[in-house]
Amino acid sequence: MDVDLHELFTRAAAEGARHRATVAERPAHPAPDPAALAAAFGGPLPTAPADPTAVVDELVAAATPGLVGTVGPRFFGFVIGGSSPAATAADILAAGWDQCAYNEVLAPAAAAAERAAGAWCKQLLRIPETASVGFVTGAQAANTVGLAVGRHRVLADAGWDVETDGLFGAPRVAIVASEERHATIDRAARLLGFGQASLEPVGVTHQGAIDVERLRAALDSMAGRPVIVCLQAGNINTGACDDLRAATTLAHEHGAWVHVDGAFGLWAAASPRTAHLVDGVELPDSWGTDAHKWLNVPYDCGLAFCADPALHAATMSYAASYLTGSGARSDFVLGDLTPESSRRARGFATWAALRELGSDGVADLVDRSCSLARQMADRLMAHGATVHNDVVLNQVLVSIGDTSRTDEIIARVQSEGTCWVGGTRWRGQRLIRVSVSNATTTEADIDASAEAILRAAKRVS
Ligand SMILES: Cc1ncc(COP(=O)(O)O)c(C=O)c1O
Repeated sequence: MDVDLHELFTRAAAEGARHRATVAERPAHPAPDPAALAAAFGGPLPTAPADPTAVVDELVAAATPGLVGTVGPRFFGFVIGGSSPAATAADILAAGWDQCAYNEVLAPAAAAAERAAGAWCKQLLRIPETASVGFVTGAQAANTVGLAVGRHRVLADAGWDVETDGLFGAPRVAIVASEERHATIDRAARLLGFGQASLEPVGVTHQGAIDVERLRAALDSMAGRPVIVCLQAGNINTGACDDLRAATTLAHEHGAWVHVDGAFGLWAAASPRTAHLVDGVELPDSWGTDAHKWLNVPYDCGLAFCADPALHAATMSYAASYLTGSGARSDFVLGDLTPESSRRARGFATWAALRELGSDGVADLVDRSCSLARQMADRLMAHGATVHNDVVLNQVLVSIGDTSRTDEIIARVQSEGTCWVGGTRWRGQRLIRVSVSNATTTEADIDASAEAILRAAKRVS
């Protein structure tokens, strides 16, 4: 079949651009009909080939009713970043170029982009420049890599080679993390064979940061055991960051490996106004973060950093006869640092986002998100709402009236469509949770969204 690729790719990119250009005018969530979506995509597997242009048109028609305005300026659920214009265009190019970012031979440009973007990220996040960087799917994968490298190190210290002998018969590793750790830490612990029971939860401060004195007591009680301490920069509810300096110093005194889950909070380091929240960020042994959240790189893109590149590679790399001699470098290839060997070239989009914003632009993005979160808190409080967290970053926890009505308010906000907020449970109460992570959000968006939330609350009361 003769295909005009130029026309086809242009058509697809134009559809993406049309979605982006109109996203702010449409409801933040389309309230899709799952049966209609399933029917649009479903049916028997076609036997005959189809014209690619017709396929793209069919895809657009099938998907459009189910496209959520996550890239728009008033989507405040989960922690969803937007996607910067250059980064989005770079991802379109990455799809067109279809590079397999395994190593320098297979994808020299993708490798160079990852190395450059990784170095820029380390600079912005105040992570030592000697650290290694693996481009992964997201913070879940980055946390898994960090814990895997920690597993290697603490068991090697105990005289056990986990890469050869696995965990059967190994000394029992404790994963020490706060009660407020993100659930991806638990999944990483399960995937790595530690099991949920290896998690040793430590109590937190009233904002959800790890209580360093309780961490001390926990570590003292584990003397002699291999320990991985998992800290957090950016509590999913409050935005609170653990005291990285005190907690890491303490954990290192106890011989533990320290990993930081900083899916979004690590980006506090990129602004002089918020960098104090992650003071000591240079001290841990591994770090996980997302580029697809606060940096506004399109989904998916996360970063796994490790202070010890050789250990990182010893944990993640593999050898195969057909790869021998295919590495063009004496140091590690990209695929030595990630759980996958074949990977999308994520470095192009991350490089483009950073090139577009510059370090000033990233700092401004962080500052603006934080000040818009405070604006949301102020607008709601001015009308009787209660804000339940210190709004130190981009997260706001709020209730309006009786918290037993929170879910009703959220449902009304979601169906009205001006904005989208989710719910959470914090300190035993059901609350509205607002996360501001999109570079296109304006003060007017916050005002309109606060009004929509207050309108919904009025209808419920
Ligand atoms: C603190 C924290 N850790 C980990 C994750 C998981 O990130 P991802 O979904 O990108 O894997 C999130 C997601 O919101 C998060 O906020």
